[in-house]
Amino acid sequence: MENMRIERCTEQHINGLTALYNHPAVARQVLQMPYQAPEMWRKRLTLDSERQVTLVALHEGEVVGSANLEQYPRARRSHCGAIGMGVAVTWQGRGLGTRLLAELLEVADNWMGLRRIELTVYTDNQPAIALYRKFGFEVEGQLREFALRDGVHADVLSMARLRRS
Ligand SMILES: CC(C)(COP(=O)(O)OP(=O)(O)OC[C@H]1O[C@@H](n2cnc3c(N)ncnc32)[C@H](O)[C@@H]1OP(=O)(O)O)[C@@H](O)C(=O)NCCC(=O)NCCS
Repeated sequence: MENMRIERCTEQHINGLTALYNHPAVARQVLQMPYQAPEMWRKRLTLDSERQVTLVALHEGEVVGSANLEQYPRARRSHCGAIGMGVAVTWQGRGLGTRLLAELLEVADNWMGLRRIELTVYTDNQPAIALYRKFGFEVEGQLREFALRDGVHADVLSMARLRRS
């Protein structure tokens, strides 16, 4: 974890971010399609928005992880945000996901004042579920046949973390 830098994602990281999420083991656990182009990420990430924070983890200049937080645009849901994240396979299980999520929640809690953070996670994605539980996310429900993954419509858990203080 030495020499790991966490930064806001900018134009120069788009190619690395694309490669990270195009890796089959990462792509299958999120909602991204295989073989995405950098242009898709460039459009999807509003890099100049205050309400969308995308962090990248850089090791020797290479993007090895990322986490994204989006505040909901509707006025009555503006206390809520959604997150998504991915860590490169060779870096998984070494604490990087913990570090990225801690940084993102610090922004959500103390700078955006968000009360509720939501996410969905495949029911069999044990590392991700354990990571989210560690940060206080709780399961609110199971959404059946939510997304196509490897030819099968897979269930996800809907999880949320409420900040009560
Ligand atoms: C989920 C993911 C982001 C976690 O990142 P990571 O860097 O591997 O996470 P960490 O090393 O910080 O571990 C976080 C926690 O996950 C749990 N964990 C890690 N590896 C695990 C494993 N193989 N099995 C079960 N739990 C595991 C542990 O509880 C760990 O916390 P602890 O070390 O304090 O006990 C990463 O595995 C990943 O990118 N997976 C593919 C994409 C994905 O699933 N994205 C999330 C979609 S919702």
